Formats: sequence, C-alpha cells, structure tokens
Amino acid sequence: MAVNLPFLRLVSLTPVLLLALAVALQALGRATPPRDSSTAATPSELNLAALAARKLYFGTATNNVELNDTAYFEILDDFKMFGQITPAKGMKWMETEPERGIYTFAQADQIAQLAKQGGKLLRGHNCVWYNALPGWVTNTTWTAPELAEVVQEHCFNIVRHWEGQAWDVINEPFNDDGTWRETMWFNTLNTTYIPLALHAARVADPHTKLYINEYNITGTGPKATSMKNLIKDLKRAGVPVHGVGVQAHETVGEVPTDIRKNLEELVALGIEVAITELDVKFNTLPPNAAGLEQQRRDYEAIVAACAEVKGCVGVTVWDFTDKASYSWIPGTFPGTGDACPWDDDLNKKPAYYGILDGFGIAR
Ligand code: XIL
Repeated sequence: MAVNLPFLRLVSLTPVLLLALAVALQALGRATPPRDSSTAATPSELNLAALAARKLYFGTATNNVELNDTAYFEILDDFKMFGQITPAKGMKWMETEPERGIYTFAQADQIAQLAKQGGKLLRGHNCVWYNALPGWVTNTTWTAPELAEVVQEHCFNIVRHWEGQAWDVINEPFNDDGTWRETMWFNTLNTTYIPLALHAARVADPHTKLYINEYNITGTGPKATSMKNLIKDLKRAGVPVHGVGVQAHETVGEVPTDIRKNLEELVALGIEVAITELDVKFNTLPPNAAGLEQQRRDYEAIVAACAEVKGCVGVTVWDFTDKASYSWIPGTFPGTGDACPWDDDLNKKPAYYGILDGFGIAR
C-alpha cells in the first residue's frame, strides 16, 4: 500500500506548543470560580469514575474555537463530567488533508492533547464521508484504482496519527430507505471502499476499534437492517470491523421505542455499539416546560437503552450546550434547536438530569 508521510516533518515542533497551550487553557479554566452551583462538581455529576467501573463512558463533541470560552472549557475539562471527547470537525478530510499528501493535524492535535491530559477517551471522526471533502478529492475524475489508493492513504495516515480508542472509519454510508448512498465513493468503487478503508485503518493501528457510524439507526427499520446486513457481510469476509456508531440525532417526542431491541440485535452480531452524536432537537422554538420535560424523557430513554445493553460502551453528546453555533442543529436545520443538555447560558436543562437518570446515577 502506498503511503505519503510528509506530515512527519510538519509536526515535529507542535507537541511542545500544544502542551504549552493546553496548560495555559487549563490554568485559565481553573482560575475562574464556578459560575454557579450548577457547574460545580457534586457527587451526582456524571461521575467518570462511577461510569468507568461499569465500563461505560459519557462524552461530548467539541470544536477548537470553543476551547477559548472559559466557562465552557471548565465544564468540558471537568474530569467528573466528560470521560470522552470527539472532535466535531478537526479530523475531517477537508481539515486534515487539504492538498494531496499535505497533512494538517494541528486542530485535532489540540483536542487529542486535551483528552490525553484529562485522561479522557478520544474518538476519531472520521475517515470516509461524503461531506467535508477538499476540492482536490471532489473535483477530480478518478479511476477506481486511483480512488482506492486515495482512500487507503488518507485512512492510513489519519488513523496512524491519532491513537483513538475508536474510529468512525466509515460515516453515513446509507440512505434512509436502507439503499446505498450514491456518494463519489460508492459511484466509483461500489461497496469496496468500505473494506479498503477498514483494512487501511487496521494496518495503521491494530488496537483501535473500527466503527461504521450512521444516523437514523437508533431504532429498528430499513436503515438499521442494512447496517446489520453490512456488518454480517464484512464479518463473514474477515474484514476488521468492531462497532456500529448510532449517531442518535433525534427530535423531541419522536424517539424510537425499540432502541434496546435494536442495540441488542447489533451487539448480537459480535460487535460493540456506541451512541456517538446524541442530541434531541425541538422543531418549534422556544420550548415550554412540558417540552423540556419530554426532552428529559427522550435523553433518558436513549441513555438507559445504552446503559442496559451489554456491549453498548458509551454515550457522546454532539456538543453539550445550546449556545449559538456550538451545536450544529440551528445552522443545519434553520428554525429548530435547543437540542443539547445545557442551555445557552451553560445551565443544566432537564435533559441533563435525563442523562443522569438514564445512567442510573442518583441525583
Ligand atoms: C457536523 C459538525 O458538528 C459541524 O460543526 C460541521 O459543520 C458539520 O458537521 N453527522 C456527523 C457529524 O457525522 O460529523 C456532523 O457534524 C453532524 C452530522
């Protein structure tokens, strides 16, 4: 397999700088007293130690620009709150290989360093998606052998760079009806891009868990069935695959009722599952008290399903605050929002307590 390794020269100085930055950021966070009692650690926090004893984690996605927000950073960095981090953007193709063979790791390095220092798990996200691709990938007409090499090179190099506990190697391969999404990967390589990417990731890091990540597979249905069939096929063919990421981007009051059954069917295939991008949005804003209570129940239902299914390893929220631009929801689905467990003033919403309840942590 051909690999380009020019990044080795580019990153030689960055660890020192990153460490200095991370220490400075941490000092900033620590110097600021908690805003109110809701952000101070209490025994009923999403206690990492308590969850770890049950081999579960609770985590969040984050973005580099948010790390400069002291009040936000204080919650993110609290070891009792989040035991896992996913960079929402920093590891995507556009960010990591903007030109062929030129790797830019600094953004996600900052988040990886933060995870390492805080003893948090790191999830790699992602290698092969149809979105967030640089022009050199999308503007070229590739032959199948050429594109196969491009996919392998990219996956190998990014998975090797970050020691993630798990990696979303493939992101969003299906349409909602369970048919294959006709991406540039599928149109040129058919389904072969999936084993190609998984094998490349495996060679890059034999220890990380290799996942396929997808939305609208929280409950049973055609998309979840296609995912199960894909996992069966890959396993039968001896392709390395260890997990399915259930994104769980949901809408208040519309959470599937058979999540547990669905997760059980997935783990029965001999893999693990994780809730990788949880948020529960309101289609009409602002929510009233009854709406917030429904959102609490929705968060509880999803978290409880994971906590109760052996083989579901943890829950990650797709950022934790409704603060403008931190959550992707209002930007992507205009008019909707308030999908996160902390409000835009960083106060805990009922949804936060739904997460505690779902994990069975006393309030
Ligand atoms: C989103 C990020 O949150 C945004 O910051 C970015 O602009 C677009 O992507 N499914 C995924 C994530 O797998 O990568 C997406 O993240 C949300 C949907």
